[in-house]
Amino acid sequence: MMSLDGKIIIVTGGSRGIGEAIVRILCAGGARVYATYNSGADKAAGIVSEVSDAGGIVEFKQLDVTNVEDVMQFVEGVAKDAGRIDGLVNNAGITRDGLIMRMSAKDWADVLTTNLGGAFNFCKSVSRQMMSQRYGRIVNIGSIVGLSGNAGQVNYSASKAGLVGLTKSLAKELASRNVLVNCVAPGYVETDMTGKLNEEQKQTYSHSIPLKRIASANEIAKVVAFLLSDDASYITGQVINVDGGLAM
Ligand SMILES: NC(=O)c1ccc[n+]([C@@H]2O[C@H](COP(=O)([O-])OP(=O)(O)OC[C@H]3O[C@@H](n4cnc5c(N)ncnc54)[C@H](O)[C@@H]3O)[C@@H](O)[C@H]2O)c1
Repeated sequence: MMSLDGKIIIVTGGSRGIGEAIVRILCAGGARVYATYNSGADKAAGIVSEVSDAGGIVEFKQLDVTNVEDVMQFVEGVAKDAGRIDGLVNNAGITRDGLIMRMSAKDWADVLTTNLGGAFNFCKSVSRQMMSQRYGRIVNIGSIVGLSGNAGQVNYSASKAGLVGLTKSLAKELASRNVLVNCVAPGYVETDMTGKLNEEQKQTYSHSIPLKRIASANEIAKVVAFLLSDDASYITGQVINVDGGLAM
């Protein structure tokens, strides 16, 4: 049985959607979670109280993943408080969709800086601690559009393709210190991010998925939890598609 008992794990963007599901599943598995969010303090407080009622431990900190100084301070604080850092989940992400002819330089930069730059900031900040422990697990939340591309998402798919390169390079850099780095690439998942799609778009997407349905956030979170557990001790540098067969 997969166990996360006592593991100290950081999750970015943990206040809703896939990040929230990850936080809840890790806490239920016995991990002590340090989560961040960008906005939605009430939502974060609600998760803290529900998790603690169920006997779990989670703390939330409002933090912008693009702010290098804040990320470093946060990670140092976790290491000081908990004495170690076993896992990191780079989940925070945004979309600013549009066809390239209409995409502003700001929309390009914001998505790259948040999705890829934010993951870099956290990976860099936890690396020293994980290397000195001779133990660590990093899971980057990519997307299948980082592998297949998607019209109207040159910024988003470039950021997610970048995460694949980051994952594989860092996996090679840190393997000798027993720090494992992987990427989970969801297809379509029912969250606020896909809530922007109308019913017709959702039907069209569902139709193109071999399993004929959109994923729940929990179905992504379970794979992330596995990669953070001791059962996944021989997997590194991989991209695991959790997409109902979409990218086959
Ligand atoms: N929903 C999908 O269909 C889908 C598919 C593939 C990949 N993903 C990826 O999964 C991850 C989570 O997606 P979601 O659907 O749950 O999104 P969401 O919009 O519901 O949640 C995103 C989270 O990221 C946080 N965030 C955004 N910008 C931030 C910043 N600058 N600093 C700190 N936190 C920030 C938000 O506060 C929120 O907690 C993202 O990386 C997304 O790209 C989602």
